[in-house]
Amino acid sequence: EKFVEATRDGQEPPFSTHPDELERLAKERLSATGWSYASCNAGLGDTHKSNRDAFKDWKIVPRMGVDTNARDTTTEIFGRKLSVPIGISPVGLNKIYHPEGELPVARVAGELGIPYSLSTAGSVPIEEAAAHNVQGAAKGIESQSGATDPNGLRWFQLYIPNDDELCISFLQRAHDSGWEAAVCTLDTPMLAWRHQDVAIGAYAPYKGVTGHEIGLSDKVFQRRLAALGIDPVKDPKAAGRKYIDTVWHGHTFDWERVKWAKEQWHRISGNKPFLVKGVQSVEDANKSLEIGCQGIVVSNHAGRQVDGAVGSLEVLPEIVDAVGDKLTVCFDSGVRGASDVFKALALGAKLVMIGRLWIFGLSIGGEQGVRHVLKSLLAEFDILMNVGGFKSIKDIDRSALRHKKQLG
Ligand code: FNR
Repeated sequence: EKFVEATRDGQEPPFSTHPDELERLAKERLSATGWSYASCNAGLGDTHKSNRDAFKDWKIVPRMGVDTNARDTTTEIFGRKLSVPIGISPVGLNKIYHPEGELPVARVAGELGIPYSLSTAGSVPIEEAAAHNVQGAAKGIESQSGATDPNGLRWFQLYIPNDDELCISFLQRAHDSGWEAAVCTLDTPMLAWRHQDVAIGAYAPYKGVTGHEIGLSDKVFQRRLAALGIDPVKDPKAAGRKYIDTVWHGHTFDWERVKWAKEQWHRISGNKPFLVKGVQSVEDANKSLEIGCQGIVVSNHAGRQVDGAVGSLEVLPEIVDAVGDKLTVCFDSGVRGASDVFKALALGAKLVMIGRLWIFGLSIGGEQGVRHVLKSLLAEFDILMNVGGFKSIKDIDRSALRHKKQLG
């Protein structure tokens, strides 16, 4: 009820948070290239479709006669209490969507007591995002989450740079400014073929001046630029290109390299959680376990990388069966509402992360927009537990679902 009340406090912008409406409004507000970059999927969009279809293949079986007047939506991840098992997926280049970039999202995630992930392609420095992420400050939320820690639940998303010293510098800065986990994304050595982006030049953000601030604010990277004679103030495009060349484009790497990055993070942080993001197979989940990760994010990057791939939710059960008792299994890709969150939890995810929903909120209404979207999702989830007959997160398991095949 607290979440519900919070959406009705008169502070929120009056827009419907139905995902179709969010898409319509975001498209209206953004430039053509901004919209294309946010919305484009790989190739024919079949992976995105599989992501959505996979949710529809599972149906929730509601329970009646359960006293759900008092519900507990809280959960614990890596020793920290969350108000609800929902988190912010890392998304780069946030200044495309709002002049303040990542900061409004970091603030709202903190207020709501949920984990915030900052992308290596973020458009604000690591330290600045940290300063805006303070946990449990929202009116009516803190008593439910029990979260009063001054530090937000900060997860730093790492694209492993093609430069050891720079990688170590990022991890050190993240640790020094209170980031509690490193999330190493493996699915994006380069951007996949996304027709609309290519057609209208929406890859331009990557060639322009947005999304390189984590590099530009780094002493190691500044040295690299100086050695090349690039002045980032006079020639931001050249500086941006160098950053992209260093952190992404085209560099694939093997598990040895991931293990090396994990070892650096563990050494710097004293064994704080290291997660691999982009896992879609039992083999890769086992690899993550083998190299000593504490968690994984089952994700296909919202269907933006490999077209014609399995839906992220389709592979979740087998991955949970294989490693769920040894690794903290998080999930994203395709979540558009509370029932999707519920289904991923029922299939064994410990945390369900969202990307586009909050990007749309940020694009529509900045901080107010993000707050409105997230609080609405939390309220919808809380209400779903009430009307569905589920008292606490631990009551949400596979017995709460039927696959359409079982229904005939
Ligand atoms: C992403 N994603 C992403 N992932 C990551 O590890 N680093 C990044 O910089 C980005 N950037 C990014 C930009 C945009 C515009 C999108 C849509 C996605 C992927 C993201 O973390 C997440 O996996 C998906 O967005 C989850 O799917 P939904 O919720 O968007 O369907």
